[in-house]
Amino acid sequence: MALQPHKSHLPPTLEWRDETLYLLDQTRLPLECVIEATDSVEAVWRAIHELRVRGAPAIGVAAAYGLCVAMQPERQAPRDAFLARLEQHAAYLDSARPTAVNLRWALERMLAHTRGTEARTGAEVYEALVAEATRIHHEDIELCAKIGEHGRSLIKAGSGVLTHCNAGALATTGIGTATAPLYCAHREGVPFRVYADETRPLLQGARLTAYELQQAGLDVTLITDSMAPALMAQGLIDLVIVGTDRVAANGDVANKIGTLGVAIAAKHFGIPFYVACPSSTLDLRTARGADIVIEERSADEVAQFAGRRTAPEGIKVRNPAFDVTPHALVTGIVTELGIVRAPFEDNLATLFATGAAV
Ligand code: MRU
Repeated sequence: MALQPHKSHLPPTLEWRDETLYLLDQTRLPLECVIEATDSVEAVWRAIHELRVRGAPAIGVAAAYGLCVAMQPERQAPRDAFLARLEQHAAYLDSARPTAVNLRWALERMLAHTRGTEARTGAEVYEALVAEATRIHHEDIELCAKIGEHGRSLIKAGSGVLTHCNAGALATTGIGTATAPLYCAHREGVPFRVYADETRPLLQGARLTAYELQQAGLDVTLITDSMAPALMAQGLIDLVIVGTDRVAANGDVANKIGTLGVAIAAKHFGIPFYVACPSSTLDLRTARGADIVIEERSADEVAQFAGRRTAPEGIKVRNPAFDVTPHALVTGIVTELGIVRAPFEDNLATLFATGAAV
């Protein structure tokens, strides 16, 4: 089955085929397009940890299939033994990265589904696991499409849109979250410009966003992160739209490091700042952004460039992979149910209770 007919300009982020999980190695894009089969739960853990598959929604889908990979050798086990091993593998996969809540969300959903199933043997529970992972995958494609429909009206003819990191097709299994409104507007023939922050230190903006938007024929310009405020000052940016790894109950937004600076600059220049967020990335169990665990990654990512050292040996380095943008800087959160605006705490809760954006 062609799962991604709407993003045919790109190789699939991931695929489940012949009982095997295939992942596009995003660390090698855009220079090389390498798709790898994962043959163990450890391989899936490493792929998530090392950002070969990355972006909150894609991490969630990969982890769901990762549990299937983990449980394949255990299919002959009786139901109870199978479920006990499943919990262990889920805890292990959950430890791959801490910030994107989609990882925990997908794993908890897989566990809840298998506990609820009437399957009596390990083999039957395994079939239920694969079915649930496939549902999570197909739903992700749908969520992206709906975010595109709701966010489409934000993209005005002749405007300049800034995005940070990659919240695109490569970060999901659909048309992306922040990029979904861009793809929809482009498909309708709306002329607009996109500015992609390169996104230090791992260059997801340069390597991934610039690549996928260019492949799709959008008018995209690459800038370094530090250029964004200057372009705003020149009047070139009319809208900012970014993705997120976790939105807390009060509307605070964790996203790739550098997002906070973009939001502050947007506020200064009176530019609307939107966050695209599927419900799988909303975390009502976390009260506020300060409670979100921010991943701290290796110093080498900052002290080296393309494998070559660029900073003195022994230098102290900080490398938080994400920051938190306070909800006061957020104009709106584009979900699959519609655009949520302030007061976020009330309106996000209502979204979940009623299934409709306020
Ligand atoms: O470290 P990464 O590349 O996984 O970070 C990705 C981001 O910060 C994205 O903006 C976020 O996950 C949203 S993806 C739709």
